[in-house]
Amino acid sequence: MADTLAKTLPADRLRPLREAVRALTRLADGQSSEAVFLTEGREILAQLISQDDWLEDDFRRTHPEYYQQYLLYCDPHERFSLQSFVWGPGQSTPIHDHTVWGLVGVLQGAESCMRYRQTAEGLVPEGSTVILERGSVDAVSPTVGDIHKVSNAFSDRTSISIHIYGANIGNTRRHVFDVNTGAQKDFVSGYSFNRLPNLWDQSAGIRAQVHQGASASA
Ligand SMILES: [Fe+2]
Repeated sequence: MADTLAKTLPADRLRPLREAVRALTRLADGQSSEAVFLTEGREILAQLISQDDWLEDDFRRTHPEYYQQYLLYCDPHERFSLQSFVWGPGQSTPIHDHTVWGLVGVLQGAESCMRYRQTAEGLVPEGSTVILERGSVDAVSPTVGDIHKVSNAFSDRTSISIHIYGANIGNTRRHVFDVNTGAQKDFVSGYSFNRLPNLWDQSAGIRAQVHQGASASA
């Protein structure tokens, strides 16, 4: 009976995102350290990006000139937030930092990432460009390395990544860097859209249960 019911209920499209929010809230409520968020949060994000049909079209839209940063959820106490980053063909960030821990998981396409370190002589590249393929998760923070430049690895298609940060990242004061001089400038990213997915409307499934219960007893 339960199996039959599950098969006939409308799809709960946003369930993966809601489950990720709940799991991250449990970590935050447990006053988890950055290290715990970077290990257990990585698992949560890997699970979330293992399928991509939950992300609605409003949060996958490109802009002709700029990459887009859509807020998907922000913890009421701003202990963490989730975003979709949408990269049009060839788009990239400036060199920037985050000032808090962050996780980047590739949902669609691929991204290239170049890391930098700040020294007395200016910015120094760390290693070579890394390609983040679909399904992979990268981490940033002032502890594990916080300065990088991210680009769409493709010049002919959109790439999308899902990010989790240890703050309301759109309101967080951070920095962009001049690659030649290492000079840093303050910036606040904000968000590209003023609406969020409605995680909490599960009424379609509940309504279907009500109807099924009514027809079973008729
Ligand atoms: Fe970044």
